Amino acid sequence: MLLSGKVAVITGAASGIGRETALLFAREGAKIVALDINETGGRETVAEIGNASGDAIFVKTNLRHKDEIESAVQACLAHFGHVDILHSNAASYALGSATEISEDEWDRTLDICLKATWRLTRGVIPAMLSRGGGTIVITGSVQAIRGYRGHTAYQAAKGGLLSLTRSLAADFAPTIRVNTILPGAVVTGLWDKISENDRERIAQMCPLRRNGRPEDIAQVALFLASDMSSYMTGSCLVVDGGLSSIIQPQWEQTER
Ligand SMILES: NC(=O)c1ccc[n+]([C@@H]2O[C@H](COP(=O)([O-])OP(=O)(O)OC[C@H]3O[C@@H](n4cnc5c(N)ncnc54)[C@H](O)[C@@H]3O)[C@@H](O)[C@H]2O)c1
Repeated sequence: MLLSGKVAVITGAASGIGRETALLFAREGAKIVALDINETGGRETVAEIGNASGDAIFVKTNLRHKDEIESAVQACLAHFGHVDILHSNAASYALGSATEISEDEWDRTLDICLKATWRLTRGVIPAMLSRGGGTIVITGSVQAIRGYRGHTAYQAAKGGLLSLTRSLAADFAPTIRVNTILPGAVVTGLWDKISENDRERIAQMCPLRRNGRPEDIAQVALFLASDMSSYMTGSCLVVDGGLSSIIQPQWEQTER
């Protein structure tokens, strides 16, 4: 077991990548503190871990609220006594170009995707330092390194997470390692409004000819959270089936 005896705080644990990561980390021996605004989904994740003889608690947390984040970290320390891993993963965002989104939409996206990660690190880092070690795994996006229409606030937030990763890595090495995953197209709750046709079209844009599954990302989160990546910090790993690695002109898409 790669995470035996570790305590992991995971945000966005009610669904998609966060849930899959929580289940995988628990199978690898970690105790899980599942954070999400979605109480039903969060409790389902915790129940599934419990049914498999794992140990997990759910703390309903709106990541926009500073006091709720602080309480969640306190709940983790009160229940399990320490924290070894933070997987900052939750996201929610408004679509639109710079001229389309409102000030409120910008703030909400940046709060949940970027500022909450900084607030969580402020909560867990002192506990990790006093314990002598810890790992932080952030879920970014290939949109941090590639432009994509209509995603201004999300891309700004994800780009910020990349810089935050390097900054945290520089400040807290060698005790704490900090790395980011850049997923491509992964079928999760965020895809609810994407039609089957569009899903297939996106899959065919990937050299690996399929969309990602939450477990594809969870496995990389496990690698970054565990000692398997012990010589990595301040890095990012693209996990996108090759999507961002190629130039695929329109005519090539229709010919093949
Ligand atoms: N699915 C993709 O194609 C894709 C691609 C690149 C990056 N990502 C990233 O992966 C991460 C996980 O997303 P996912 O695809 O699993 O989506 P998801 O919708 O399944 O999960 C996101 C979770 O965040 C939670 N959340 C939203 N707002 C919150 C708030 N204010 N407080 C607490 N929790 C909140 C939601 O309830 C949900 O459980 C995100 O950071 C996302 O940006 C996803």
